[in-house]
Amino acid sequence: MKMEIMTNIFLGDSKEKLKLLSDNSIDLIVTSPPYADQRKNTYGGIPPDKYVDWFLPISKQLLRVLSPTGTFILNIKEKVMEGERSTYVMELIIAMRKQGWLWTEEFIWHKKNSYPGKWPNRFRDSWERLLQFNKQKHFNMYQEKVMVPMGSWAKTRLKKLSDTDKIRDNSKVGSGFGKNISNWLERDKAYPTNVLHLATECNNKNHSATFPEELPEWFIKLFTKENDTVLDPFMGSGTTLIVANKMKRNSIGIDIVPEYIEMVRKQLRPVEIHFLEPKGTYEKIKSERRNAVCRAKYRNISSKTYSKS
Ligand SMILES: C[S@@+](CC[C@H](N)C(=O)[O-])C[C@H]1O[C@@H](n2cnc3c(N)ncnc32)[C@H](O)[C@@H]1O
Repeated sequence: MKMEIMTNIFLGDSKEKLKLLSDNSIDLIVTSPPYADQRKNTYGGIPPDKYVDWFLPISKQLLRVLSPTGTFILNIKEKVMEGERSTYVMELIIAMRKQGWLWTEEFIWHKKNSYPGKWPNRFRDSWERLLQFNKQKHFNMYQEKVMVPMGSWAKTRLKKLSDTDKIRDNSKVGSGFGKNISNWLERDKAYPTNVLHLATECNNKNHSATFPEELPEWFIKLFTKENDTVLDPFMGSGTTLIVANKMKRNSIGIDIVPEYIEMVRKQLRPVEIHFLEPKGTYEKIKSERRNAVCRAKYRNISSKTYSKS
């Protein structure tokens, strides 16, 4: 079966460029905006006390373009200023809820390879937030696509089941959740936790803050199916788009820096024709690409601008 997979890249400010997209047209947004006051030298930094005001017009557009069954994953982390964690992310969550978003879940990205260091009053920062927002309580979620091997836990814990483990054990805190552990006895796969253990990307993509490919890949598997559309309004080196394209999802990226647009354009064709292939093909492409990326040095990027708007 033949399938056309489209990639659209826009040069400019997301606040404006998002207005070009149709209502309810996006199935998944995965993005990492500039964090407050960080990377000023590369692409500017927004002061923490201005962050919410800066982000809300963008999230208003994201709310408009996201399909009612779609999901928005926002990677962000507040930094330490004058010995204290800033609160702008919490303020942003509250403001986005007032804007109409549901704050459905918070995943943790555990950065397995964070640099060692010594600070007088804290330890090294090894995790970032992956906030999940939705428009409604019922959204598309393909949980079976991210199942993990049951692992050694099954061999130890499941062998010694108590009587409570064999019946549905309702939560003692009245959350309405319950579990019957014996249901998992014969299974070799389990649903994952909300912690993603991923190494940060090796610094070789001509961009200072790239996602590891496994990060968008995991959310694309979980929240979309082939031929759906994925948006990254702060595209950077285009990791989200490149992964989406390989996974046969349409993708849209926006970035304000012409060099990043050019870099991504060189790696992606606007229309790719895919033929449905046996499962597992993406895993093979991914490992081949990782080897190639880690060996090769990128060419110098010209500052020619490119926009499909
Ligand atoms: C943290 S980086 C994203 C990195 C990306 N996840 C990757 O894997 O390469 C944030 C990006 O947002 C872009 N950016 C900053 N302000 C923007 C704006 N107002 N509109 C669009 N892009 C913007 C920056 O140029 C930068 O590339």
